Amino acid sequence: MFSNKNYSPRQLATICSFIISLAVGILLFFFVRNKWIAVFSFVLLFIGCYFLISYAIDSFVYRQIKLIYKIISQTKASKKEEFYYKNFLPQKRIDEVTEDVEKWAAQSKKEIEILQQNEKFRKEFLQNLSHELKTPIFSIQGYVDTLLNGALHNSEVNIKFLQSAERNIDRLVNLLDDLDEISKLESGELKLNNKNFIIQDLVKDVFESLYIKLKEKEINYHIKKGCEQPLMVYADKEKIRQVIINLVDNAIKYGKQNGIIEAGFYKLEDKKVLVEVTDDGSGIAEEHRLRIFERFYRTDHARSRKVGGSGLGLAICKHIIEAHEEKIQVRSTIDVGTTFNFSLTSAK
Ligand SMILES: Nc1ncnc2c1ncn2[C@@H]1O[C@H](COP(=O)(O)OP(=O)(O)O)[C@@H](O)[C@H]1O
Ligand SMILES: [Mg+2]
Repeated sequence: MFSNKNYSPRQLATICSFIISLAVGILLFFFVRNKWIAVFSFVLLFIGCYFLISYAIDSFVYRQIKLIYKIISQTKASKKEEFYYKNFLPQKRIDEVTEDVEKWAAQSKKEIEILQQNEKFRKEFLQNLSHELKTPIFSIQGYVDTLLNGALHNSEVNIKFLQSAERNIDRLVNLLDDLDEISKLESGELKLNNKNFIIQDLVKDVFESLYIKLKEKEINYHIKKGCEQPLMVYADKEKIRQVIINLVDNAIKYGKQNGIIEAGFYKLEDKKVLVEVTDDGSGIAEEHRLRIFERFYRTDHARSRKVGGSGLGLAICKHIIEAHEEKIQVRSTIDVGTTFNFSLTSAK
């Protein structure tokens, strides 16, 4: 009878009182042989047992359960909760209580996992940061030491060493700028200053600002055929400029000499515009493709070629695009090339 169903304390009290009072009522009927006494005793006993059993369950079991609820909600019970404990909790079946506790345990486990994950990120971040700082600082130290130890008067190398030291200082400054940017983005300080602008014009601006780098590698850069028709978007123009600068800068750095960089623009359904930057460079292997948006992540290839860069560029792009509630994605084939695309909202 009790095996396949869990009863609430009220139901349990009713069933137990009924069984006891029925048994006593039947016994009385047989012994006293008076129908009315039996019925009267049944009713009286039923009421008495019901309150007694309810009280017993409430004090011995539900007081403990209330305590569990207080612990899992981790607060001093408010008026609303007190009302809940008094009126709704006794209606709950034990399996419902178990369910609540299990839900709480799962939630706590998730919170602990997030904390552990954050801790891992923090450790990795510090490790990466100290590594990124060490490399240029040690090399500046090396050049300065060599110069002080006599190379300063060697006109064949002195300027070259100073220029190398300067390059490393530039690298440090870039790293600090990127760090500054990413810490602002991650602390949620980024406030978007959205306005309408034509996305093609912004990309042309970026091509112009990177003209020297593009010429150095003799790259053929242009807007894809059929994508010239001006598309007006609604976004933070300066932040999107930063995204496009980083994508084109990557396309130059990881693209080949005499390569091609193309920008494409497509109107999507639901009032969105897709922006694409494509190169015909080295491409990115699948195992790296999943990770390039992480802070400091660079492929070994990118590290060993010493093309510079902090590995923070794409992490910054992702932050900016996600702050716009849009997505950035990458497609790539080794030795064929890479396409980055992101969506924006069409002008209002
Ligand atoms: N267009 C591209 N072609 C090939 N690899 C790329 C391209 N863009 C990015 N990558 C890879 O992704 C990594 C992360 O890019 P990013 O965050 O901009 O860092 P950085 O430019 O400082 O190296 C790069 O180091 C490189 O390995
Ligand atoms: Mg970059």
